[in-house]
Formats: sequence, structure tokens, C-alpha cells
Amino acid sequence: MWEERFAKKGYLFGTEPVPFLLKHDACFQKGQSVLSIAEGEGRNGVHLAKKGLHVTGVEFAPSAIAKAKKLAELNEVDVTFVGSDLFEWNWPQDAFDITLGLFFQFVGPEGRDTLWRKMLDATRPGGLIMIHGYTPKQLEFGTGGPSNAANLYSKADFDSVFEECDVLINEEYEAEQRSGSAHVGMSALIDFIARKPTA
Ligand SMILES: C[S@@+](CC[C@H](N)C(=O)[O-])C[C@H]1O[C@@H](n2cnc3c(N)ncnc32)[C@H](O)[C@@H]1O
Repeated sequence: MWEERFAKKGYLFGTEPVPFLLKHDACFQKGQSVLSIAEGEGRNGVHLAKKGLHVTGVEFAPSAIAKAKKLAELNEVDVTFVGSDLFEWNWPQDAFDITLGLFFQFVGPEGRDTLWRKMLDATRPGGLIMIHGYTPKQLEFGTGGPSNAANLYSKADFDSVFEECDVLINEEYEAEQRSGSAHVGMSALIDFIARKPTA
């Protein structure tokens, strides 16, 4: 399904970063390493690389990766794009300053917890886990995202996987989005940022 959508002309989600990255810009420092899961067509990885971060983007749709590479080239930045299914990828451990997941709501609670645990494991002690997506209220707006309520998150869903982390932000809110042709209009969103313990 994803490959089919990305194989069409143009950037489905546009080439501007998700506003979440701009809102939490202070979290990103030049020289840091970032793992961006379900990176899509490169808009977020390229934005962070332009800020001087070392970005690894994992994505399984070949057409999305091809577009992401083009976007990086056009912006004259280096981003490491890895073509892999996140459930099959050999995730590095304790490796990244920041582990980032934006709109990766393609699985229900069990798969989601698996990916969240992998994100936590891949983050270095003291590093940040940053997650952004839609809440169940998004089904009322219908302006993008999955149609399956089980794939959407609420604040309490983060409690068990991240119970040992220092939660810095866990906030549900509504805001306008304008990302390509896929995420457009008033949306029900959630931001989650936590620090992995150092010991
Ligand atoms: C809603 S898009 C978001 C893309 C990007 N994060 C953004 O904000 O522009 C979800 C992405 O997840 C990717 N994806 C879905 N299932 C995946 C999997 N099992 N492994 C890796 N990527 C996957 C899709 O190909 C798609 O690029």
C-alpha cells in the first residue's frame, strides 16, 4: 500500500518538516546522532541534516527512499537512508542521541509497543525518545492518518514502555496541518518526549 502511494509523482507528505520538529527545535543540537524511523520521503531527515545532525532514516518503501535520496541531494546534505522493514531491521543498541518516530501508526498496540521498546533500546543512556502522531480524536477530523482506532495513541499509552524514563512532554492538542496532500486540515495530535535514564 505504501509503495503504491509513494510510486506516484510528487512528495505525498511534502518536503517541509513535520511542524513538531520546529516546535521542539531546542531538542536538536548540531553534531548529534538521530535515528528517524519510518522516515518516508526524507522531509524530516533532510531538515535535521541541514541543522548539522547525523541522521539515519529507516523506511521500507523503495520509492520513498528514492525520493528521500533526491531531496537530500537537492539540499546538499548527507543522510543515511536504510531500506528495511522496522520489524526485521537489526536495530543498534544504546546508539543514538535522539530516536525519532513521526506518524508511524501502521500497527496496533502490540506492534506499537514492540517498536517503542526498540526505540528505547536504540537510544543512548541520557538520550531522547521523541514520538509524534495522531490521537483517536483524529477519526472525527478525518484529515489524514489511519482509519483504525487501535493504531492511534493517547497519553496513557506511553506509561508502560517508558515508565523508567523522565517524561518531558506528553501532550494532546489540536492544530492545523499542511503536509503535502496527505495530512491537511485540523488534526488531533500528540507529542511525547522522554529522556532515557543514564543508569
Ligand atoms: C504516514 S507515513 C510518515 C512518513 C514520515 N515519518 C513523515 O512524517 O513524512 C508512514 C511511513 O511508515 C512507513 N512504514 C510503514 N510500515 C513500515 C515498516 N514495517 N517498516 C518501515 N517503514 C514502514 C511507510 O512506508 C511510510 O513511509
